[in-house]
Amino acid sequence: MGFAPRRLPAASAAAPGWHDRCSVVVRNPNRREDHLDQTTLLPAPAVADPSQPTASAALREAEMRTLAEPTGRAGLLARVLFGVMDLAYGKALDLRKFVVLELVARVPYQAWENVAYVAISHRQRSPAFARRIFEYVREARAAQDNEQWHLFILQELIERRAVRRSFLLFGVLPQLLAFGYYHISWLLYVLNPRWSYTLNADFEAHAERSYMRFVHEHPELDAEPWSSAHARDYGAYDNVGDLLRRIALDERAHRVASLQKIEASRFALMQAEGQR
Ligand SMILES: [Fe+2]
Ligand SMILES: [Fe+2]
Repeated sequence: MGFAPRRLPAASAAAPGWHDRCSVVVRNPNRREDHLDQTTLLPAPAVADPSQPTASAALREAEMRTLAEPTGRAGLLARVLFGVMDLAYGKALDLRKFVVLELVARVPYQAWENVAYVAISHRQRSPAFARRIFEYVREARAAQDNEQWHLFILQELIERRAVRRSFLLFGVLPQLLAFGYYHISWLLYVLNPRWSYTLNADFEAHAERSYMRFVHEHPELDAEPWSSAHARDYGAYDNVGDLLRRIALDERAHRVASLQKIEASRFALMQAEGQR
């Protein structure tokens, strides 16, 4: 079932959005990551910038775009993870479930940072190569920090609502999920980084879509003002609806970054094969 646009921004045709600056992609119907719109070719959209909060019109446009995109079938591991989360927390979306999602979302970046640091130690006699690996560390750290802001913001929203959370379901289980997901991400990355990026891209796509669906299903969030000390670090948004749309856009940026890594490794592989 498709989503009927709730409010199409009137200015969207006149003012190009962040996704309009891309060229055409040649799609391969056999590759899951190619079932995307043209934004795959972008430099990944930037994550939230506290000095330049994203305009509300652009956020609403992003919502419509995400909800209009076809939902690709996630890989087996991702589907198992989503299945466990649905079983434990129900299929319906709520802020408590998003907190669990954010707790889990950080760990692939921690795993990649860890593996990259080990690689730097092994390659310390080739400083130029180690320096290139260090770029991966910085990238993983930045994504991790971005996820951490999501977590702080959501925790605060929940505290303000005084929502009750069971210790087992919302204290213990998320730790277990994060522990398991960390080790799977770590192992996949060691065996073949593309596998780990693919799993992460599935996870981020799920997160992006979940946030946008939640905002779409709860128009009252647009009337709920948001003010928080976290706005200094994340960016100031007038209402909770726009705040969650911005978080969804961050998840999109993470997804596109992972897809680009997959694409880059495929390109490197083709080059290596071409040189043989
Ligand atoms: Fe997140
Ligand atoms: Fe993310």
